[in-house]
Amino acid sequence: MAEETLSIDGPAFLKGEVTVGGSKNLALPLLATAPLFSSKLVFRNVPNILDVHIMLRALSSMGIDFSWGGNKLELDCSKLRYVDLISPALSELRASFLFVASFLSRFGNAVIKKPGGDQIGERPVDIHLEGLKSLGYEANFEGDVIRFKRVRQVNDAEFILKYPSVGATEQLIIASVTGSGSKVFRNIATEPEVKHLISWLSSCGGKIKFYPEQRVVEIESVSSLSAQQAFFIPGDRIEGITWILTGLLCGNNEIWVKGVHHEDLNNVSGLFESLGVQFQEDKIISKRLNDFKNLNIIAEPYPGFPTDAQPLMAVLLSQGLGVGKIKDKVFPKRFAYLSELSKLGLKFELREDTAIIVGPQKLKGNEVLARDIRAGIALVLAGLIASGTTSIKQVNHLRRGYELLEVKLLSLGAKILSDQSLEYVF
Ligand code: EPU
Repeated sequence: MAEETLSIDGPAFLKGEVTVGGSKNLALPLLATAPLFSSKLVFRNVPNILDVHIMLRALSSMGIDFSWGGNKLELDCSKLRYVDLISPALSELRASFLFVASFLSRFGNAVIKKPGGDQIGERPVDIHLEGLKSLGYEANFEGDVIRFKRVRQVNDAEFILKYPSVGATEQLIIASVTGSGSKVFRNIATEPEVKHLISWLSSCGGKIKFYPEQRVVEIESVSSLSAQQAFFIPGDRIEGITWILTGLLCGNNEIWVKGVHHEDLNNVSGLFESLGVQFQEDKIISKRLNDFKNLNIIAEPYPGFPTDAQPLMAVLLSQGLGVGKIKDKVFPKRFAYLSELSKLGLKFELREDTAIIVGPQKLKGNEVLARDIRAGIALVLAGLIASGTTSIKQVNHLRRGYELLEVKLLSLGAKILSDQSLEYVF
């Protein structure tokens, strides 16, 4: 099959209503909790994206049956069996590393491929390993495979994360929710996805106290979990920001963004309100922003500005007046996307962990590569404001996290076309 190309004809003048899908970075950890259960689970508003399908394939391989339709997913965990987690597709997906926690809880051991670094920079797992060690689990490396096993029974544990890693926080919560004794984790990540993961586990009988202000979680391990009701996955906050930015860049009339859990955007609503975006009870209204003074964005752990949205901000900054800056304290090297944006004419300067973009600039369509999911969506935004045709390759990265991307853009009035049917993706 030839590689997919996504073509956008710009500049786009958009208006209308768009509903975000369920959160990718919540759906993936939720699926990684499935091996903790022996019963049926139901999730609603599950995003139909490639990463979810990769996780589902892994669940199938361990005997967890699933059925899904209309974004409702039913899992039957009654026939769970142990398998090594070493398929190549899984190791490309960082979130699959969270199966370690549920496997260690259920089986006392896990074998998994080390997740690789990627376009957004080094992605070590040292905090995961140190935290799991405090829970009595040892990790041994054999090439790119890690063998985990329980080496001592730990009932009570306290561990301080040296950095509030989202994945390591989720790993430790999933590893501790069942078992015995009490666990305390300090300097944890407090991203909304962590909060919602805790809500899910609590709704199944987990005893977890979350103190986001103190960056602390306290867990009384319980003997088992049981899902009482379907869990609705809240809207994806990064997709929400994507549509807000689409409005600010191309909304010749209002774009109404629906389906976002507003509380999840509390950390960015002030910034967007200062750009004219309105946060109403049932929708967010975003409209084209003209002649705005350029911005200074610093991506930091929550409640800071999200690193996943900084590549999109680069496109906005190219339209601001004067000097705009983006610094990323989470992934200091997450700027590879700028060289692709420069093919559309975007000029920038990179000084260590800070990108400097002086606007306003005119962009022009060209051929570009979506090197990762957020780089890809930044290119889509840039393609929408550029004149002429932008052809995006390596579209599979966008398929990993954005459900119905063209359908939503077409409904807003964009001229966007894939040269392939979506069915091939899944
Ligand atoms: N880090 C370590 N050691 C560790 C773990 C992390 O040094 O053991 C460092 C990383 O190298 C990075 C920083 O800590 O510099 C933050 O990494 P974190 O562990 O918080 O990120 P993650 O859990 O691997 C999740 C999201 C990412 C998002 C980050 C930060 C999922 C599946 N992924 O990754 O999402 O950028 O948190 O918010 O939840 C995306 O959706 O495009 C994406 C990359």
